[in-house]
Amino acid sequence: MIDRRTMLAAAAALGAGSALPRPALAAALSVKSGTGPVPAFPKDFLWGAATAGHQVEGNNVNADIWLMENVKPTTFAEPSGDAANSFELWRTDLDLVKGLGLNTYRFSLEWARIEPQPGQFSIAMLDHYKAMIEGCRERGIAPMVTFNHFTTPRWFAGQGGWHHPDAPSLFARYCDRAARHLAGGISRATTLNEPNLAGLLGELLPGDLVAADKATQEAAARAMGSDRFSAGSSLYVADPARFRANQIAGHKAGRAAIKAVRGDLPVGVSLAMMDDQAVGPNSLRDAMRERFYGEWLRAAQADDFVGVQNYERKVWSSKGLLPAPSDARRNTMGAEVWPGSLAGAVRHAHAVAKVPVIVTEHGVGTDDDTIRAWLIPAALRELKVAIDEGVPVLGYVHWSLIDNFEWLFGYRIHFGLHTLDRQTFRRTAKPSAAVLADIARRNSL
Ligand code: BGC
Repeated sequence: MIDRRTMLAAAAALGAGSALPRPALAAALSVKSGTGPVPAFPKDFLWGAATAGHQVEGNNVNADIWLMENVKPTTFAEPSGDAANSFELWRTDLDLVKGLGLNTYRFSLEWARIEPQPGQFSIAMLDHYKAMIEGCRERGIAPMVTFNHFTTPRWFAGQGGWHHPDAPSLFARYCDRAARHLAGGISRATTLNEPNLAGLLGELLPGDLVAADKATQEAAARAMGSDRFSAGSSLYVADPARFRANQIAGHKAGRAAIKAVRGDLPVGVSLAMMDDQAVGPNSLRDAMRERFYGEWLRAAQADDFVGVQNYERKVWSSKGLLPAPSDARRNTMGAEVWPGSLAGAVRHAHAVAKVPVIVTEHGVGTDDDTIRAWLIPAALRELKVAIDEGVPVLGYVHWSLIDNFEWLFGYRIHFGLHTLDRQTFRRTAKPSAAVLADIARRNSL
């Protein structure tokens, strides 16, 4: 939920002196970018932009994270508040997608709105999302719907969240109800967003950060009058093995529930994937891949597709993570922005999951839009090389349509193709939006 990649990079770097001599290190890091002509993308390629409910809707007051934003102490830089007011302004957002000539919009359902109390489902809220799905269809946009993007209902978190033995079946019940109302119009569904890093961050991150997150969740428990609270996505997870096992079971049960409603609806899961590269003898790369993605990529073998969400590469020696080259372009958090990482992550995802890939997120948090405008075509060029090698990639969805609530960092980090005025909610296209639009319209670089 926070910028996990940056957190992981920081953590890995703690133990990571470079064992390689300088020239070898420089050579290892300067992987060449393809320069040859890149013909058109496959016919019917999906071109999209993404948002997630809590990050853009605003006033998602029944969600676990809303509570965590508003207790004391809190690890959140600021509350989400009105966000982009997309709960009201979703038509504006769809017009932006259409205006860019994109054929796909990825957005998420807010479980906390749909099931505000255990077993109490809101038809009005389901109708809200149905209108969004129909709004996509009216504009010729395929709705790619995430059933759960990090936030869970307060009541779910307050009974232990994904630790609770009933969590998988509760998630499946929600998926069933949502699918019965909505599945007819959805083009592709994903169950969970980036569950693969759950429970790993606590082992890797600096103790004080994890302790602060634990204190925030304890404050949320007190606010609810509960003796426990476990958010849908957090740094501190009391029992990582149980949490992860229940999320995998939840994914499978959720997928089965959606499929039972509409068997022909493609269902997958979106995973957070770095492009892990190996340098030198005995690189930790393969062990890290197994740790971060192994069990989820194997779980995805039974899905219709796997969603890859990539923002960075990581270069592993035998000791740990190597630092980025000194001339690297960097995002707001100081991490390297490297265009080849998307194709690398996609190749690995397909090699293990063996199902078609959809890039469900890729982008950069930066105030310098020239970096975004450079990254998009450069990353797509490499992605096309992977497609030409035979990796089945069905689409590319950019994160994000608009600047939004970037979890722990609040509104400080900007991933949008559009800016957001937080007073008027006006969205304004950045130059990079036209770059993506041109590629999408031509279906070619
Ligand atoms: C998440 C988004 C987040 C983005 C940028 C992904 O981890 O799915 O919710 O805003 O990356 O950090």
